[in-house]
Amino acid sequence: MNPQNAPSPDYARRRAALAAHIGPHGVAVLPTSPERARNRDSDFLFRFDSYFYYLCGFTEPNAWLVVQGDGSSTLFCQPKDLERETWDGLRLGPEAAPSALGVSAAYAVGTIDQRLPALLDGADAVWYPFATHTGLETRIDGWLSGLRARARFGALVPEQVRDLCGPLDEMRLIKDAYEQTTMRRAAQISAEAHIRAMQRCARMLRDGQDVREFHLDAELLHEFRQQGSQYPAYSSIVAAGANACVLHYRADAAPVRSGELVLIDAGCELDGYASDITRTFPANGVFTGPQRALYDVVLAAQVASVDATRAGARFTDPHEAAVRVLSQGLLDLGLLDRSAVGNVDDVMEKRAYFPFYMHRTSHWLGMDVHDCGAYTEPAERGSAQVRKDAITGADIVNRPSRVLRSGMVLTLEPGLYVRPAPGVPEAFHHIGIRIEDDAIVTDAGCELISRGVPVEADAIEALMRG
Ligand code: GLY
Ligand code: MN
Ligand code: MN
Repeated sequence: MNPQNAPSPDYARRRAALAAHIGPHGVAVLPTSPERARNRDSDFLFRFDSYFYYLCGFTEPNAWLVVQGDGSSTLFCQPKDLERETWDGLRLGPEAAPSALGVSAAYAVGTIDQRLPALLDGADAVWYPFATHTGLETRIDGWLSGLRARARFGALVPEQVRDLCGPLDEMRLIKDAYEQTTMRRAAQISAEAHIRAMQRCARMLRDGQDVREFHLDAELLHEFRQQGSQYPAYSSIVAAGANACVLHYRADAAPVRSGELVLIDAGCELDGYASDITRTFPANGVFTGPQRALYDVVLAAQVASVDATRAGARFTDPHEAAVRVLSQGLLDLGLLDRSAVGNVDDVMEKRAYFPFYMHRTSHWLGMDVHDCGAYTEPAERGSAQVRKDAITGADIVNRPSRVLRSGMVLTLEPGLYVRPAPGVPEAFHHIGIRIEDDAIVTDAGCELISRGVPVEADAIEALMRG
């Protein structure tokens, strides 16, 4: 990835916004992700830390960023080293980093223990991300104790440690124009990958071939990489038939059979930004009656969730709208027995839909697929209410849900998952359906950025005939 793909002014503006938040005497310290061993001497593919990348766009491992409240910033990075670069690839190096990244200064990462205490000297608070990087607190403690050892020479040790996730989560929650553009592109690539997988599935079955989940996974990967995405944003789910009822199923080797549905939940990551799309389609291109009936309920639930998504609404509004439609659909199709569970309000009140719909409808989407950002409204955190959960009886603390604002990005992903159970009509057994799109909140509603792949049942059938 080329960090210069992103306009550098964005990073400078983000660092300036952070500096303003931590105040003139605050210091923020942030490492990128560690490299992780996979097996023996092979590492997992390196992926930078999202907070770190958000502030400087630097993609190499073994690096730290320090942002000071006066607006200056210091990068610690791997030094130039011809031998290491011959094996592992080019390094930017501290000499080139200030002009390439706009940071005020850069040093070799090996000097961080020696330099960090001086950067912390006189600060009122040191900010770092709590509970994110193993061993980070110990490193910070080491630098603070190094500074304390110099107290008799006039060094001043910060008196507060603060969680850097707080301000960065708030900043990342609202996507700027560059981020929205990148996310639209990521979603479009993913949409095209879904189309590719759907069409290959129908084509192989028409040709009498043995289709496996991995064939469809291969199509997704092909399209992601073909269009410049670096990697999937998360492990792709390609679930044939009953596997769709396993929420975190991974693409494996199960046969994809004519007459069954396939659920694909897959999205690419592009330049640090995730997409997250789910489509459920008939393997042979034609829904059966029960599949279509259930599919249309889930689609109607998604439409309701889309209608409930706009600036000023609460984060939970799309979920509640979707659950109402799903609950009504479960009653109408006889999956819930009206005489036992009552009407739609009773179903929602008792959470009787839960055996068929056990996850939430939305999550924030951004650099991380389950992106950072508070789900409660910061201004209203004091007004918590405790209620008893209808199923477990446990006390649940309800804090007012986040008010949606223009530029927030969330998924809308209702589903229904039908496992065999007493009273559940056999025609629906083992059907798992989820429909997931990515929405940018706008003042008037929301922009669905992942609709490059059809979602209506008729349109899916038409696509698969193609
Ligand atoms: N693909 C993960 C999710 O839908 O939340
Ligand atoms: Mn999702
Ligand atoms: Mn998903």
